[in-house]
Amino acid sequence: MTQYLELLTARVSEGKQILVYGAGSQGRGVVRALREHGIEPAGFIDRNPDLHGRFLAGLPVFAPEVLSEPGAVDSTFVIIAVFFFEHEVSGFLESCGFIRNVSYVAYSSLKPRDYVVEVSGICNLHCISCPRGGYRTNKRSTRMMSLDTFKKVITKIRREDPFVGNIQLYQWGEPTLNKYLPDIVRYARANSILCTISSNLNYAADFRALIESRPECLRISVSGTGESYGITHTGGNWNAFVSNVETIAGLRQEIYPEMKVELYYHRYKHSIGIQQEQVAEMCSRFDFEFHPVPAYLISLDDVLGYCEGTPLPDAAHRARKLLLIDIDEGLAMAKAEASLDCDSLRVVMINADLSVSTCMMYYDPERNTCAGNFLETSIENITTQRMTSSLCVRCRNHGIHRYCGIYAKISEEERY
Ligand SMILES: C[S@@+](CC[C@H](N)C(=O)[O-])C[C@H]1O[C@@H](n2cnc3c(N)ncnc32)[C@H](O)[C@@H]1O
Repeated sequence: MTQYLELLTARVSEGKQILVYGAGSQGRGVVRALREHGIEPAGFIDRNPDLHGRFLAGLPVFAPEVLSEPGAVDSTFVIIAVFFFEHEVSGFLESCGFIRNVSYVAYSSLKPRDYVVEVSGICNLHCISCPRGGYRTNKRSTRMMSLDTFKKVITKIRREDPFVGNIQLYQWGEPTLNKYLPDIVRYARANSILCTISSNLNYAADFRALIESRPECLRISVSGTGESYGITHTGGNWNAFVSNVETIAGLRQEIYPEMKVELYYHRYKHSIGIQQEQVAEMCSRFDFEFHPVPAYLISLDDVLGYCEGTPLPDAAHRARKLLLIDIDEGLAMAKAEASLDCDSLRVVMINADLSVSTCMMYYDPERNTCAGNFLETSIENITTQRMTSSLCVRCRNHGIHRYCGIYAKISEEERY
C-alpha cells in the first residue's frame, strides 16, 4: 500500500488531478481515505447519467468520456474504486491510453482488503431467495454486535488496514434491528470510516437517530409492490415499507440531504412492469437512486449444493421459478469467465459474534469459518486460512465465484 501512496503523492506533485472511478460506497471510501492522507481528488467518474453534473462528498461527478478527451491521459491519474467491474474499467482506461500503475491504479492494489461487519445476527424477513428463507442451519449466531465490541473491531481494522475508508454493516442480517446502530455509524465516521447500510425497511427503527449519525449510504432492498411485495420479500408488509420510506425521505431532507440513498429493486417475473415503474416513480419523487437488478439465488450454499448434485431447498426452488435469469443461465455465464479473480476474496467478513467467515457469500458457518474471534486473530492469519480453504476450491471448480457478479453485470448492461 505504501508504494501506491507514494505513487499517488508523486503524481499529485507533478500537478496531475486525481479522479476516482466509481461514485458508490467504495469510491466515497477511497475519497475519505485519500483526504485522511492529505490528498484531495478532483472528482468522481461514474457511468450513471443521473449523477453527472452532481456533487458527491463535495466533488463533481463526470462521465467516463472525459477520460478519452485529448490531453486527459497526461493530466489525470485515476483510481478505480468499483467492486465488481475492475476488470472492465481497466480495459476501458487502457483503451484511452492509461497505463496500470503509471496513470491509473486499481482499488484492489491500493486497498487489498474490504470489510463487512455484520452488526445484526438476525433478520425480520425470510426472503425465499435468501438462505434465511429456507436454509436448514440453525448454527448461525443470532447475536447483535454491541457498541463496545464494534469499537474494538474498528480499532483493529484501522491498525491492520489504515487505508480502509468504508465498511458495509450488513450481509445476512437486518442492521436496523440493532439498537446501537446510530452509535456504531457515528463511531465509525469519527474514526474516518464511512458506513453503508442495507435495509428492507420493514422495521420502524429510530430513523431520526440513525440519519443524525450520518450513514454515508443507505441501500433499500425491495421486490414488488402491494400484495406482491411479500412474495419474495417474504413476510414483509408493503404498507409498513412505504411508511418507513416516507419517514426516511422526510428525515433525510431535514437532517442530511447528502446521504446517498440507493434503492435496489429485485426484478422477478412477478415484480416487473407496472410494479417496477411504481417504485421507480417513488425513487424519483424522493430523489433516491433507482437500481433495478435481476434477482438471483443469493445463497451460494444452495448454488454450490446444486452444482454438486443436491436438490435446491424448497424455498430456493420456489424463488428459482420466479427468476428472470435462471440459475443454469447465470452459472453458464459465470463459468465462461471462471478464469477471472474472485471479487469476494478481498472482503473480510466479521460476524456479530466476532467469528470470521471464509467467504461472505456463504451463509452456513460450518466449513466457512476461518477464525473464531476476529479480535484474537491477526489479519495475516485470517488471510492464510482463507487462501487455503477447500470451500474456495469447490466454488471455483464450478465458476461460482463469478456468479453474483454476472447478475450485477447484466443489470449494468440493462441500465446503460
Ligand atoms: C440479504 S440482504 C440483508 C440486508 C437487509 N436485510 C436488506 O434487506 O437489505 C443484503 C443485500 O442482498 C441483496 N439481495 C437480497 N436478495 C437478493 C436477490 N434475490 N437478488 C439480488 N440481490 C439480493 C439486497 O438488495 C441487499 O442489499
